Order: sequence, then C-alpha cells, then structure tokens
Amino acid sequence: MNHLKEIDLKQFGIIIDRFKDIKGPLIPILHEAENLYGYIPIEIQNLISQKLKISNAEINGVASFYTMFHTEPTGKYQIGICTGTTCHLNGSSKLLKHLEQSLDIKEGETTSDGQFTIIPVKCIGNCDVGPNITVDGRVHNNMNIKKLDKIIEDLSKR
Ligand code: FES
Repeated sequence: MNHLKEIDLKQFGIIIDRFKDIKGPLIPILHEAENLYGYIPIEIQNLISQKLKISNAEINGVASFYTMFHTEPTGKYQIGICTGTTCHLNGSSKLLKHLEQSLDIKEGETTSDGQFTIIPVKCIGNCDVGPNITVDGRVHNNMNIKKLDKIIEDLSKR
C-alpha cells in the first residue's frame, strides 16, 4: 500500500483501460486502486464509473461490501481490538476505549497524521488467550493497557 499517494487520474485511467475488456473488471480495478492508494478515493470511483459505465452506487456498494477494500484513507498501521464476546468479557472494551482516547479517534477512524487506523475486529478464534488485538493483521494476545501502549509507542517511532 502506498499511503496517501497523490491521486493521478491519467495514470489510473491507463490502469482501468488495461482491465476494462476482461470479464468482471471491477474487482481487479478496485484491487489496483487499493494497492496504489491504500483506499479507493472518490475521484477514482468517479473515473471507474465513467470508464466502465456503471453507477457510483454500484462501485461504492462493492467497495464497501468487501473488507479488503476501504472507501476512506487508512493509516499506515491498522490496529484492531477484538470485541468478540470472550475478549469483551476479558476487558477488550477498556482497551478499545483507552486506544481511542490515546489516539484521539474512534473505531473506524484514522489519526490526522495518517499513522493509525482503528479497525473493527470481531472474534478471531483466539478466545482462550484474549483479549486479543491485531496489528496489521498480526495477532497479539493476553493484551493489557501497558502492552498496548508499548506497541503504539514502538510503531510511532518507526
Ligand atoms: S472473542 Fe476475541 S478472539 Fe474470540
């Protein structure tokens, strides 16, 4: 993912042209946008709409349906706090609240410096070692506030 890359409609037009005659071009085109920008900017959705002659609503519907696509800019690091039942019973809501306060964003949002996004995470099948969090998809278990702060601090220094 190329974080917050400048949107180049001409360049992306060429990418769309490469796919537009294949069967089911939308998903591979959305993948290209996601890889390039880290999300699918509205300008790119508009361009896809014009070139493929499909509605923005359809594009947005597909982009919103699949978890691998994002319609808003995402942070360099994706932090998820599991809010499944077992992790919740083991204190994950406190972790989520703490993270939201320390990053000054809500779940689903990205910090203004583009460093962190808090993504929603439900049970990831590691209940016995919860509460669990994910950092860019990697699971960290037996989480507590001290460990969470250390992870955020280490990532902030990178
Ligand atoms: S509830 Fe968190 S891993 Fe199952």
